[in-house]
Amino acid sequence: MVRKRTAILISGRGSNMTALIEAARDPSYPAEIVLVVANRPDAGGLQRAAEAGLETAIVDHKSFGKDREAFEHALQEVLQAHRIEIVCLAGFMRLLTAWFVAQWPERMVNIHPALLPDFKGLDTHRRAIEAGAKEHGATVHFVVPEMDSGPVIAQGRVPVFADDTESALAARVLAIEHRIYPLALKLVASGRVRVENGRCVIEGPVSNQEAAFLPGAAQ
Ligand code: GRF
Repeated sequence: MVRKRTAILISGRGSNMTALIEAARDPSYPAEIVLVVANRPDAGGLQRAAEAGLETAIVDHKSFGKDREAFEHALQEVLQAHRIEIVCLAGFMRLLTAWFVAQWPERMVNIHPALLPDFKGLDTHRRAIEAGAKEHGATVHFVVPEMDSGPVIAQGRVPVFADDTESALAARVLAIEHRIYPLALKLVASGRVRVENGRCVIEGPVSNQEAAFLPGAAQ
């Protein structure tokens, strides 16, 4: 098996990044994390990545002023220089243009802390509580130009309790994020996720436990 050369893009603490790095420690995992890129020099995850022995890079969007394209071209150059095949956005807080997205068709995935299509954008936990949602969660999806959209690969659900606080709910969701992201990357890297009519279809057998996270798996 040739493992897929994977880059993780972060802006912050990188707990999802760490979950992916841990999963990829297993030599039979189909993705190899070869690079972590941050758009902020102070992203906490950079140190964690370096401690894990990974190569890191900083492409600071601020040094490009308002020129989004120049920032993205610089990012693309770094990814190409490392012969990256799959890009994982993990708390990467920059919107990407259609041009950049088009460089990574069905090869770039993102994790969003809500049950998409509900609660796109920011402050998802507060909004879920305010809306009186009984259930909340996280979604891993292929990236398309429209923000927090794109075919859903994996989704994990958690209950919302009557007396929930934003931080308690965030922690519950984060724990599920750390389970579904490694699962989604495993399936994408092994070529088992096909997009059909805008939906993901998972090929091959999955365990019952995995099926609970995979809307596109055969029942
Ligand atoms: C996560 O909640 C992720 O879903 C969202 O940003 C947060 C990043 O957390 N996109 P971390 O940096 O992975 O800890």
